[in-house]
Amino acid sequence: MINVFQPALGAEELEAVRRVFESNWPGKGKITDQFEVEFARHLGTDRELVHSTSCCTEGLFQAMTLLGIGPGDEVVLPSISFVGAANAIMASGAQPVFCDVDGASLNCTADTIESCITARTRAVLILHYGGVPCDMEAIGGLLARRRLLLIEDNACSVASRFRGNACGSFGDISVWSFDSMKGLVTGDGGMIWCRTADLAKRAEQLLYLGLGNKSGFGKTVNTRWWEFEVTECGRRGILNDIASAIGIEQLKKLPRFLARRKQIHEFYDGELSSISWLTCPPQIPDSSISSYYFYWVQARSQHRDRLATYLRENGVYTTFRYFPLHRVPFYGATKSLQNAERAAEETLCLPLHPSLSCDDLEHVVTSIRRFDPGETFR
Ligand SMILES: Cc1ncc(COP(=O)(O)O)c(C=O)c1O
Repeated sequence: MINVFQPALGAEELEAVRRVFESNWPGKGKITDQFEVEFARHLGTDRELVHSTSCCTEGLFQAMTLLGIGPGDEVVLPSISFVGAANAIMASGAQPVFCDVDGASLNCTADTIESCITARTRAVLILHYGGVPCDMEAIGGLLARRRLLLIEDNACSVASRFRGNACGSFGDISVWSFDSMKGLVTGDGGMIWCRTADLAKRAEQLLYLGLGNKSGFGKTVNTRWWEFEVTECGRRGILNDIASAIGIEQLKKLPRFLARRKQIHEFYDGELSSISWLTCPPQIPDSSISSYYFYWVQARSQHRDRLATYLRENGVYTTFRYFPLHRVPFYGATKSLQNAERAAEETLCLPLHPSLSCDDLEHVVTSIRRFDPGETFR
């Protein structure tokens, strides 16, 4: 089966993990510090603003606490986004308010966000769908005008840029995921960036039990180093040196991964754009750099479902990301969002990861061409 997403781990990662074993310290230590330093450099931001975490979902939960979001607040987010984003908002006591997306890019827009803003809106939590940046000029302008906080979910956009600036540098808090299906893989893991050093310092404490500066472990400042101070109810959402060692090697390979992802994206565009019953994703604007995380096609609902089954029967695994959250009863939304609903019926993400061989890609496009959609009006 050709996987839809897959990590690309090699001898370098294994060697880095071996060195961690030799150090006999697999927990959070010097290697995690180095990973944070190098990730900050990758973003072009200050080291003190970046902290690693156990996963992106933990970062999303922490973001709510850090920004003081809670009961009575509303947070607007695109319906086409990850379940952990809505859970983080719900868990804080705030209400998730789902906005629609653009039907082709599947990104939220300033207009779809604005139509959901009420007097209770505190923040907007955006996702750069498939790695293609949202229009941050329009969204940034709207949020500045309405004085709203911005959280960026960069799980799809580890290397994306909008007008030269890294995705993740536009808001108040940003989070990244390094789980096993992402563009940069550490097994599980994530990163959190905060706009101010004060917020970042608090994030660091919240990610480690809320222990304050006067806690003595590993430091020489306290005579009784086993004593500690707790500043608030933190959790334990830290990364470890095994994951970070993998992350450092993956970061070195990221330019190569991206080049391959771009090549695959262009191959699909070239091979699939002439198929009358399929629509390829929109062109990436010149002002943007994508992480080429998803490649998606759109077809009429009955074709899409049959195509997915046909491909699976022919050894090609596909999926749709992300099932619209406003259709999940737990979140309590009752409205209908036309584009998100249509996207959920018509969109299919094709295999896209750096380990796909040319034969794999040929097999994917040949299988799609061989598929008989029946009635082809679209
Ligand atoms: C868009 C998006 N946000 C957040 C997450 C959560 O990431 P993690 O698995 O690191 O918690 C994911 C994971 O799939 C995701 O796709």
